[in-house]
Amino acid sequence: MDHPENNAVDGELTDRSFADAEARSARLEEELRTDPTAHRMLTGDRPTGPLHLGHYFGTLRNRVRLQDLGVQMFVLVADYQTITDRDSPRSLPEDVDALLADYLSVGIDPEHTTIFAHSQISGLNQLFLPFLSMVSVAELNRNPTVKDETAAAGQAAMSGLMFTYPVHQAADILFCKGTVVPVGKDQLPHLEVARVIARRFNRRYSPKRRYFPEPAALLSEAPVLLGTDGQKMSKSRNNAIALSATADETARLLSRAKTDAERHITYDPVSRPDVSNLVLLAALCLERQPEAVAEEVGAGGAAALKRLVTEAVNERFRDIRKQRAELINDRAQLRRILAAGNERAAEIADATLADVKRLMHTDYGS
Ligand code: TRP
Repeated sequence: MDHPENNAVDGELTDRSFADAEARSARLEEELRTDPTAHRMLTGDRPTGPLHLGHYFGTLRNRVRLQDLGVQMFVLVADYQTITDRDSPRSLPEDVDALLADYLSVGIDPEHTTIFAHSQISGLNQLFLPFLSMVSVAELNRNPTVKDETAAAGQAAMSGLMFTYPVHQAADILFCKGTVVPVGKDQLPHLEVARVIARRFNRRYSPKRRYFPEPAALLSEAPVLLGTDGQKMSKSRNNAIALSATADETARLLSRAKTDAERHITYDPVSRPDVSNLVLLAALCLERQPEAVAEEVGAGGAAALKRLVTEAVNERFRDIRKQRAELINDRAQLRRILAAGNERAAEIADATLADVKRLMHTDYGS
């Protein structure tokens, strides 16, 4: 139920709306446990480079958990998002294949999860137009994530697609009536736009029967992994260990990872972020507590820690990497899997678009 005072919520993220989003997320987590099949999850990634261990522990593993709980799952390859801030790179087809291979190798199962590329779903893209009519320029202008992404891309001018991208993302979520969107905090302003659009559409065009459910963010307590340079692990910072890295590459990258001058290893993320990050990575791979891992290494120092974490990563990802190597060698199969997902997504998008046209009284001539 919506409180009347929340109906005025716009694209801006206030402390209040963050607290609300957190409360909704906690309720949702509970509902997913008791009634997983009642929910439909939608999330996605842009195909701009290989996924890394930060993605794995931050979100991929959670998607597989939700899939295995029986939640209806949609994972989208956000290929149109790549042209919000750059020319369509010639490498896009390979990048899409790589993303598919990453998804499948970690256990996202196309039998249970619809994997699709949003550029291929015309019904989804057509929703973008009526949705644009439901937000104001002033609201779009307040979205901090759009500004951050434009700045991060090093672009002086913001493209029209970047400016309106949160509305496109609303179409990504609402075309399949998604209710659960696992995202990080940075995506909350976008999600707020999707919620506003759902609410306004319902009020304007379907006042008696709510047509679109309001999607909610699932803010999992994902650990933030740092890259080998001590900054947040990120595709664009060149500090990431890719899921697809070989055992040797992993060893080389970790041997270069920052540590500190204190010999005895402890787990203290605030005052020893670099060492603690390696301890955390080992602990995640070994499914142990970081404190216990730090204690075990103790006087062994940074060299022993690096040996341990390298072995832990390589062990944990051995099967995933093997699987991924096989998948990437059969691109025809990857494309078949994507085509099947696209087909299913297109059916749903066409049905939603037909409903939307009917509700908007624009279903003449078809
Ligand atoms: N914008 C998201 C990102 O940059 C990716 C994305 C596109 C997405 N469409 C989505 C995430 C829909 C959740 C729901 O990471």
